[in-house]
Amino acid sequence: MASTQTDRTRLAGFDEVPLGPTGRPKQDFDEPRPLKSHGPARIISLCNQKGGVGKTTTTINLGAALAGYGRRVLAIDFDPQGALSAGLGVPTHDVPTIYDLLLSGSKDPSIAIQQTAVEGLDIIPANIDLSAAEVHLVNEVAREQILARVLRKVSADYDVILIDCQPSLGILTVNALTASHGVLIPLECEFFALRGVALLIETIDKVRDRLNPAIELDGILATMFDSRTLHSREVLERVVDAFGDRVLETVIGRTVKFPDASVAGVPITDFAPEHPAAKAYMQVARELIVRGAVA
Ligand SMILES: Nc1ncnc2c1ncn2[C@@H]1O[C@H](COP(=O)(O)OP(=O)(O)OP(=O)(O)O)[C@@H](O)[C@H]1O
Ligand SMILES: [Mg+2]
Repeated sequence: MASTQTDRTRLAGFDEVPLGPTGRPKQDFDEPRPLKSHGPARIISLCNQKGGVGKTTTTINLGAALAGYGRRVLAIDFDPQGALSAGLGVPTHDVPTIYDLLLSGSKDPSIAIQQTAVEGLDIIPANIDLSAAEVHLVNEVAREQILARVLRKVSADYDVILIDCQPSLGILTVNALTASHGVLIPLECEFFALRGVALLIETIDKVRDRLNPAIELDGILATMFDSRTLHSREVLERVVDAFGDRVLETVIGRTVKFPDASVAGVPITDFAPEHPAAKAYMQVARELIVRGAVA
């Protein structure tokens, strides 16, 4: 059974091995080497149909952290709420959005790409128009593959594309999964967190069977972890029991710095670079590089 106490140690031979919050020996993920060349991108969906679990926060801060390591990152706002666009401080009205690209397959996707304040991190924004996409796409031929076709045209320019999904398993999310090489599931350390994950994994399996045989589960990222509460530790323990090594070693703590950074429209890595939460997202970036999910 996994232990979840942050600072507990375990006897292994004669050595005491410090354990991380997931109960595995604490690891230092090496500083990644700079890339000599860029692209084609590995595409990763941030997906969980439960709302408010940290999908958008993870897209922003993982994107910024990867850009900080010299990776070229494109973030796709794939939620009509436009929270990713707002969180990165880019305009969403009177500009081309992901919706325009979905509707007109002939448009060059670069018209919708905006630079953010973070060097190396670009975004394709979304606004409420995207909520009409479900209706429009229903009658399209190969409607699940429309986003994949759009992203193929920009993939060469980036090392990683992160898709911030909306909290549903509808046609937009299926498009995101069909376009992706991998899925990262942010999971809030809350009592009902595990509900729904089985359905999500079932959906990923269906997409693998029918639409995208190559899709992999890159990992489950525990978010909003509060090491002071037994509750949070118990939830994390259950998540690790259920998903084993698929749970990332790095865990994101609960802190009010995230809402504060969102209001400021910048990643936490810029807003409070020395804060443990900023360092945690830098570590997620390194862990994903070590795991091979990102170049
Ligand atoms: N580790 C954290 N600690 C504290 N607050 C957090 C943390 N991560 C995210 N939040 C806050 O929780 C709220 C929900 O986070 P976020 O928008 O990233 O979730 P989401 O999964 O994208 O939500 P939705 O399903 O609505 O798209 C936001 O106000 C965000 O600032
Ligand atoms: Mg979101």
